[in-house]
Amino acid sequence: MNAAATFGELVARLDYPMFIVTAAAGERRAGCLVGFATQSSIDPPRFLVCLSRRNRTYRLAVDVDALAVHLVPAEAEELAELFGGETGDETDKFARCAWGVGPEGLPILAGCANWFAGRVLERVDLGDHVGFLLEPVDGHAADDLSEFTFHRAKRIDAGHEA
Ligand SMILES: Cc1cc2nc3c(=O)[nH]c(=O)nc-3n(C[C@H](O)[C@H](O)[C@H](O)COP(=O)(O)O)c2cc1C
Repeated sequence: MNAAATFGELVARLDYPMFIVTAAAGERRAGCLVGFATQSSIDPPRFLVCLSRRNRTYRLAVDVDALAVHLVPAEAEELAELFGGETGDETDKFARCAWGVGPEGLPILAGCANWFAGRVLERVDLGDHVGFLLEPVDGHAADDLSEFTFHRAKRIDAGHEA
């Protein structure tokens, strides 16, 4: 097996929490399910979100100052399907879920009680994804510690090919 195939096998075995990342520019809104995301610094606090250039969310995110990062709870399968399996190019995801306007005008999903808003500090070319380095500026931490993880999410057919 070549190195790329071995790498593919290994990363398919990993499990990690899924996020829903949302953005808004005026009346335009976008959001998608994201697995490529991680804290990248403690002090200063920083978080890296990787968005595929194919996604509508990426196309909106290139022009905005902030993104909202929602932790997806274990029971939120429908939300994960909506934001991971549909593309905003064809479906108004925000007409199909409950949400409100949060800090920086960001759409905050009612189904995800744990979230933070991050100011975009840098956009970094990382391959077929672009990294958005975020500085948390607001957020909410609820008691729900459950997670919807990659091993459940990988059954979803992504709205845009990776
Ligand atoms: C398991 C799984 C993980 C995903 N991880 C990412 C990711 O890290 N970054 C990303 O941009 N899209 C990721 N996606 C794909 C988007 O969520 C999907 O293509 C979505 O439909 C794009 O919606 P949009 O075009 O409205 O932005 C993932 C999808 C699935 C099913």
